[in-house]
Amino acid sequence: MRKIQVRIFDNAETAAVYSAAIVEQVIRSKPKSVLGLATGSTPIALYKQLVDFHRSGLSMAGVTTINLDEYVGLAPDHPQSYSYYMHHHLFDHVDIPESQIHLLRGDAEDLEQECQRYDNIIRSHTIDLQILGIGVNGHIGFNEPDSALKANTHVVQLAPETIQANSRFFTAEETVPTQAITVGLQAILLAKQVLLLAFGKEKAKVIYEAVKGDVRTSLPASLLQVHPNVTFVLDRAAAEVLIEHGFYTSTPPRA
Ligand code: GLP
Repeated sequence: MRKIQVRIFDNAETAAVYSAAIVEQVIRSKPKSVLGLATGSTPIALYKQLVDFHRSGLSMAGVTTINLDEYVGLAPDHPQSYSYYMHHHLFDHVDIPESQIHLLRGDAEDLEQECQRYDNIIRSHTIDLQILGIGVNGHIGFNEPDSALKANTHVVQLAPETIQANSRFFTAEETVPTQAITVGLQAILLAKQVLLLAFGKEKAKVIYEAVKGDVRTSLPASLLQVHPNVTFVLDRAAAEVLIEHGFYTSTPPRA
């Protein structure tokens, strides 16, 4: 049985370099790769590194991207939209043609139709590498803990802890969105390879549960245990509880 592979780095910067090197490897072995991309504060260092790699010679011109999620109600030019985030951190600085970039429209008039449009895109692609972050409650994309999860792209009511965690990106005058559109579990689990990044001690407990706990819809990231090629890329803080429980990679992390 394959387990989730875990790599623990001294800090988030090194973890981001490692992750970017994997992305480069995927692109070099298949220039027309399809990348599933995530947002949040965690992958920012990875995107910065990819921009550096691009400036030093990595072409991403053949790459297609499919983002995971978007806030309902935010237009792509809203500074807190994930569309804005992706352009700001990655797309404006690399050579992926706009026609190969797929993002959800949180401001679509008909959200159901928007979900179907996105599922058609997902169906016509195989994601070679899916980048994920993780919510403090174990969500991936915006698949929130629940008694049942959805396979396809859908509108989701955000959990109170997610709204709370994401409110740090919004000014006092702005209202934090309470709904989002997210790809479902099928798109994530059908990716050929998954790289989940997590940094910081507030993720340590959920990381332990996702890797070692039972597979359960109340902790969506635990479903990754059934995928054959998943690597969790962690800094020491996010790996703290795993380490407390005796988890070591081949060599114990330095004290
Ligand atoms: C957000 C995103 C997720 C992300 C997570 C963690 O709400 N929808 O894709 O992985 O929350 O965010 P952060 O990296 O800022 O902790």
